[in-house]
Amino acid sequence: MTYRVRLMRREDVAQVAEIDREAFPTQWPPPNFQHELRNRMAHYIVAYDEEKLVEQPTAKASSGSGLTRLASRLRQLFGHDLSSSDKPSPPIENYITGFVGFWVMADEAHITSIAVREAYRRRGIGELLLLAAMDWAMELKTRIVTLEVRASNTAAQNLYLRYGFTRVGVRRGYYTDNREDALVMSTEDISSAAFQRRFRQLRRALAQKLGIAGYQIAR
Ligand SMILES: CC(C)(COP(=O)(O)OP(=O)(O)OC[C@H]1O[C@@H](n2cnc3c(N)ncnc32)[C@H](O)[C@@H]1OP(=O)(O)O)[C@@H](O)C(=O)NCCC(=O)NCCS
Repeated sequence: MTYRVRLMRREDVAQVAEIDREAFPTQWPPPNFQHELRNRMAHYIVAYDEEKLVEQPTAKASSGSGLTRLASRLRQLFGHDLSSSDKPSPPIENYITGFVGFWVMADEAHITSIAVREAYRRRGIGELLLLAAMDWAMELKTRIVTLEVRASNTAAQNLYLRYGFTRVGVRRGYYTDNREDALVMSTEDISSAAFQRRFRQLRRALAQKLGIAGYQIAR
C-alpha cells in the first residue's frame, strides 16, 4: 500500500460521502461535499492508496439512469447497435481511504470532519490526514486549530492529544442522536517555535512508521 494525500476533487466526492456515511451513520443531514468544494472557507484533503484503482461509485450507480435509457432509445431510432467497444468505459479513480475537512474562519482552522475507512484504520492514515490538514492550515496562516469530538470517542481524542490539542470547553448534549456532549479541543499557537519543533518531530516519526520519505499535498 502506498500512502498519498491530495486536495479533494470533484471525482472523489462519491467515495468521500461513502466514507462519511460509514463513519457517521447517525449524522443528519449528511454533509454536501459538492457544495463544500465550492465553499471558499472549506478545505478538504483525501488519503488514497496509489496501488489500488476503482470504478467511480457514481458511474456504477448510473446503470439504468436517464443517460442509459437515452442511449437505448437512440439505438431503437437509428437501428445502430452499440458494440461493447463503443460504450464509454467507467471512469477509474484512486481508491480513497480517508478524508479530513476544515473551515478557515479568521485565524482559526476548524476541523469539521476526519474519517478513515473502517478496514483501513490503525495504520496511521488518520494521523497522516490530521498532519496534512495542520500543515495546510499553517500554510494558510491560521493561528490555532480547533475541533469538536464526542466525549466517548477516545480513539480520536488520543490522536488529537498527540498533536497538542487540549480540551478548552464542553458543549452539553451537542450530538442530537444521543444527546452526547462534545468536547471542544484546540491547539496552542501553531506558528510558535515550540509547536513547529514538536510538529516536525511528529512528522518525521510518522514518515518512519509509514515507511515513506515524507509527503506532499498534491493539488
Ligand atoms: C479517528 C480516526 C480518524 C483515526 O484514524 P486511524 O487511521 O485509525 O488512526 P491512526 O492509525 O492514524 O492512529 C493514530 C493514533 O490515534 C489513536 N487511535 C486511533 N484509533 C484508536 C483506537 N481504536 N483506540 C485507541 N486509540 C486510537 C492512537 O493514539 C493512534 O496512535 P498509535 O497507533 O500509535 O497508538 C478513525 O478511528 C475514524 O475514522 N473514526 C470514525 C470517525 C471519527 O470518529 N472521526 C473523528 C470525529 S471527531
